Amino acid sequence: MSIDLAIDGAVAIVTINRPERRNAMDAEHYAGLSRAWIEVRDNPAIRTAIVTGAGDKAFSAGADLKSFTADAPPLADTLLTQQGQLLNRGLEVWKPVIAAVNGACLGGGTTLLLATDIRIAVRHATFSVSEVKRGLFPGNGGTQRLIQQLPHAIAMELLLTGDGIDAATAERWGLVNRVVEPDELMPTALAYARRIAENAPLAVQAAKELALRSRDVDLATGLRLEQLMLRLLQTSADAREGSDAFGEKRPPRFTGA
Ligand code: COA
Repeated sequence: MSIDLAIDGAVAIVTINRPERRNAMDAEHYAGLSRAWIEVRDNPAIRTAIVTGAGDKAFSAGADLKSFTADAPPLADTLLTQQGQLLNRGLEVWKPVIAAVNGACLGGGTTLLLATDIRIAVRHATFSVSEVKRGLFPGNGGTQRLIQQLPHAIAMELLLTGDGIDAATAERWGLVNRVVEPDELMPTALAYARRIAENAPLAVQAAKELALRSRDVDLATGLRLEQLMLRLLQTSADAREGSDAFGEKRPPRFTGA
């Protein structure tokens, strides 16, 4: 049982590795995930990340129900807002993150999914935020991102019934990008990750940040942020390399500078 982080070229692969508990996450696994996301954010060699679960049964069955309610943290911890930040809670990771959903994606697994950018799922994957069935609700962004990312009636159906949907429905509703056979899962996720990693890293990260921040700012402010960010990028070596490579009819060699 662990959170594994492997680096394959410019791609980090984060694996929730606790298949005997269907990759349910207890405090130790959440801490491991927090460290993994910080490594993804801060290691300049990493340009994109994939998150997946070990085994073929579950991406993650969410919070460890056997320790979560028994070990509720001290009330004072709720004020330590910079502690134990996660991709779906507090951390700003502008490098693209791709979810490779290898099986059941439940509760905290789905709230993690909602913080990723591109999502590939196997045909037998299922999705739910079942917390209301257990006396809780989907925290770590679940109540916030579900309604942002899905149409109102669909988000509310998932949130309030806690019922699950299959991969075909998730694809139809736009919760995932593609549904593939199990042996195509990692190759498809890696192909997306490598394709994005070939693009100019600063441009990719700026594009992600601007797109996500657009939810929090009015259009005029968003347009100004976009204009300023673009002006900054125009001074980057990679912007010059992009146009030089085009002119010289060769693939660009981006360095992230
Ligand atoms: N927390 C703690 N343990 C969990 C868990 C969770 N969220 N999900 C699964 N497990 C454990 C099971 O208790 C079981 O342990 P055991 O072998 O000691 O009995 C083991 O993982 C395997 O689970 P099992 O239910 O036998 O596997 P399955 O493949 O038949 O079903 C799930 C997988 C994920 C569909 C099912 O385990 C499930 O519904 N889990 C609860 C998920 C949930 O409600 N999450 C929301 C959290 S709020």
